[in-house]
Amino acid sequence: MNKIRISPTIEGTITNIAEYFISIASEQINQKDIFSVALSGGSTPKSLYEFLAQDSSADDLPWDKIHFFWGDERAVPPDHPDSNFLQASSTLLEPRLIPAENIHRIMGELDPKTAAALYQEEILAWFKDTPPRFDLVLLGMGTDGHTASLFPGSQALQDSQQNQWVTANQIPQLSSWRITFTAKLINTAEQVVFLVTGQPKAETLFKVLEGPNLPNKYPSQLINPHNGSLIWILDQAAASMLTLV
Ligand code: 6PG
Repeated sequence: MNKIRISPTIEGTITNIAEYFISIASEQINQKDIFSVALSGGSTPKSLYEFLAQDSSADDLPWDKIHFFWGDERAVPPDHPDSNFLQASSTLLEPRLIPAENIHRIMGELDPKTAAALYQEEILAWFKDTPPRFDLVLLGMGTDGHTASLFPGSQALQDSQQNQWVTANQIPQLSSWRITFTAKLINTAEQVVFLVTGQPKAETLFKVLEGPNLPNKYPSQLINPHNGSLIWILDQAAASMLTLV
């Protein structure tokens, strides 16, 4: 059963997910002195990153114990305005003085298949060849039901069947390539959180959460951590069509 938290406003949603981030990061660091998180791209999480960078409630987090990865990246260099790395780096990692060795960037400047293969190697090595299991994977959802860079009808939806953790995905809808976690990798995480806000996503969110299981059409439906928790953090506008909450 999905856990769903709804806030009246976007601002309330950001505070909600920031408290959740601080809470689980603190808990994991207390337990094992490290915390691994895969960040999302897109516009929604920008406010979360800015909040975590600036709000005093996050000052006491042992930021040097947090390792940052990305659940997906555009096939662009790290200084490109579309880069998910650039967004997180400028809004959170630089302000919180995250050590370079804690930043695990997808090399979007390379050929996408090479970048995906190298990132998969880096992740497997970082987890010391145990099955990779992120403490937290942060996701958004597009109005077409995609998450990370798992887009409707794209090849990466099939790659989850094989032993692939990271893949290059050609996105005809965008006439571009992306590098993305497969659903298989996301579903090994301890905690997965979707951050979804705004009225434009309400109908898709209803179809994803309460409609028939059509993961090729709504890839967000692929996300179901096998041995972990899934929580949806929404504002009232995005949740406005849900009937089961
Ligand atoms: C990306 C994201 C993507 C994003 C959704 C929602 O690289 O764009 O990883 O999956 O989360 O497209 O984006 P918005 O938050 O901009 O609506």
